Amino acid sequence: MEVENNMTPERKLDHIKAVLDKGVESLHPTLLDDIRIIHNPLPEINLDDVSLETSFCGRRVPTPLMITGMTGGHPDVAGINKLLAVVAEEYGLILGVGSQRAGIEDPKLAYTYKVAREAAPNVFLVANLGAPQLAMGYGVREAAKAVEMIDADAIAIHLNPAQEAYQREGDPYYRGVVEKIAEIADALGKPVIVKETGTGLSYEAVRELYNLGVRCFDVSGLGGTHWVKVEVVRSILRGEKPLPAGPLADYWGNPTAVSVVEARTAAPGAYIVGSGGVRTGLDAGKVLALGADVAGVALPALRVLLKSGVVGLKGYIESILYQLKTILFLTGGKEPVDLWRTPITVTGKLREELEARGIDIERYIQLVRLEPLRVRGWSLTKTLRKP
Ligand code: FNR
Repeated sequence: MEVENNMTPERKLDHIKAVLDKGVESLHPTLLDDIRIIHNPLPEINLDDVSLETSFCGRRVPTPLMITGMTGGHPDVAGINKLLAVVAEEYGLILGVGSQRAGIEDPKLAYTYKVAREAAPNVFLVANLGAPQLAMGYGVREAAKAVEMIDADAIAIHLNPAQEAYQREGDPYYRGVVEKIAEIADALGKPVIVKETGTGLSYEAVRELYNLGVRCFDVSGLGGTHWVKVEVVRSILRGEKPLPAGPLADYWGNPTAVSVVEARTAAPGAYIVGSGGVRTGLDAGKVLALGADVAGVALPALRVLLKSGVVGLKGYIESILYQLKTILFLTGGKEPVDLWRTPITVTGKLREELEARGIDIERYIQLVRLEPLRVRGWSLTKTLRKP
């Protein structure tokens, strides 16, 4: 455990180096290309009527966009959290920090996370711990510490079994995790978001946790950053022989589009982040139209920040938000939840995958996608009609 403690911050830095320039995204697509949001040439609203405000984990937030947890835990990365937070505050984004294990094990590193709250007093800020730490002894106490460290609005518990299996010094321990998550969800007094890290949640996993009281999920599906690939790259950069990942580094996982539909089917009333390979406002619009509450990005935000600074990151965020706003306008929607009522088509591989999983796509589009409105007691007056 001692050695592990000392290694965590260095590993964090290694990961940033590995993802910055190297190909760490999966060759397998998100399958978002198999969705088309039907263009409405007669929207009957003005562009100015559109608001991006929405709800997330029980609170109103200015935009349906999240920068998901990435970093903290090393003096060299405190600046990254601070700058992500500056931009999140300016645009009203939801923001996550990376795993706070390092800050819990060495309180001298807590400031590398705290900077986020200092720079973003108003954002919905999400704390972060890994599931293997729960298997190895962490519980409600550590979760509360992580929340308190950054005055967080919620905590994300990340699931990364694929990464742990391909990290030589990894912690591939998951026995007992479900019970621990349920305990934390029950006792913490803040929302718990269970998130994957690029290989996607499944219907079965979400259902099990939803039945145990978890009400927020981040699917983080296949099609973006792939952590098996990151670990392979990191081994090579360190001059070590990678564990033999073969095709798993590109093709293992549940694609983002499939994962959003499965999560919504399993957890009708839950708040869902659609993420994993979301790169543009169109991708973001598609995960929302598919049933997510907010869209999440990680890698592109980090890359643009480290390469083009705050100005570059602002430009990137502005482009996603403007695209989202115009997608709402061009579908006649006034706010993000209206995308759940807008007609979409699902074709190709995505349709085949969902059918193979026993999901009736038409029923999903007409009914299941709208379930959160019913569960949360919102108006269902503008129900969908088939053309
Ligand atoms: C991550 N991610 C991550 N997730 C988490 O819950 N805790 C963490 O500490 C980290 N660390 C981390 C570091 C870096 C450098 C990256 C790029 C990512 C995973 C992240 O939140 C997200 O789920 C995946 O990266 C998939 O999204 P993208 O990158 O395809 O947009």
